[in-house]
Amino acid sequence: MKSPLFLKVILLGAALFAPFAVAADKKPLKVGFAQTGAESAWRTANSESMKGEAAKRGIDLKFSDGQGKQENQIRAIRSFVTQRVDAIVLAPIVETGWDPVLREAKRAGIPVIITDRTIQTADESLFACFIGSDFYEEGRMTADWLAKATGGKGNIVELQGTPGSAPANERRRSFGDAIAKYPGLKIIDSQSGDFRRAGGKEVMEALLKKHGRAINIVYAHNDDMALGAIQAIEEAGLKPGRDLTIVSIDAIKEAIQAVIDGKISCTVECNPLFGPKVYGTIERVLAGEKVERKSYNQDELFDATNAAAAIGARQY
Ligand code: AHR
Repeated sequence: MKSPLFLKVILLGAALFAPFAVAADKKPLKVGFAQTGAESAWRTANSESMKGEAAKRGIDLKFSDGQGKQENQIRAIRSFVTQRVDAIVLAPIVETGWDPVLREAKRAGIPVIITDRTIQTADESLFACFIGSDFYEEGRMTADWLAKATGGKGNIVELQGTPGSAPANERRRSFGDAIAKYPGLKIIDSQSGDFRRAGGKEVMEALLKKHGRAINIVYAHNDDMALGAIQAIEEAGLKPGRDLTIVSIDAIKEAIQAVIDGKISCTVECNPLFGPKVYGTIERVLAGEKVERKSYNQDELFDATNAAAAIGARQY
């Protein structure tokens, strides 16, 4: 007969290792992520956050780069449905045209989390929730800062993001709404640089040719386009920050450095590091918990007063 001490050791061992036995049995969560592409430094940081957090949590992530095309993202979602993933994450390139494919995911019983950019749909049941930044608020913050810094005067050229995308639509709308209060601030031209650095440079070159020194202010919908515009401005023999005021959105590390260098006057943050929040939400959705319908990141504004103090801790 076994001694009581022997039995205690066996029981203790079973208790200690039971959770691992369950974990070993449990299949890793399978998540499909339809990313827009790799158009900006912001996007790279966002993809890294999603991939890094998946690896940390042992999630089997199926990552698809949409290469800037909605049809690629639609194809990716269909393939995630065929692969029977547990959840789908979509960062939609444009706002419209998602209903049919989201209906397919819904019919398959796969929850869809919309991240980063919102969609327009009459059927809110097609997605579980939205996680991202408030683009309208970002445009408003930029415009208010600008109005204060310029005394409400100046000719603005706007470098828009991808046509039809939520950030381009919202940042344009809110900036326009806010500067309407200042009759001395006028948008004299507005063109798309597609959220890309090369796009920002190309558009700025054309705008400088067209308007020359009549341009006082550049409002870029993201930092990559602002940094591209800076190249064009410098190549035209002008000094960014002195000859033109540049304001933009994202607050990537390189733009914060440009604020310190006096080339960009202000950049409003759009935090891309939401991998942990997305997977945490997926786990709750799959556990049948009620989650917030729309959850927004808290974003800050950086200018000459706080950029130097912030750059050291900047992760992207
Ligand atoms: O949707 C977020 C926007 O998309 C970021 O501002 C931009 O940099 C990115 O490409």
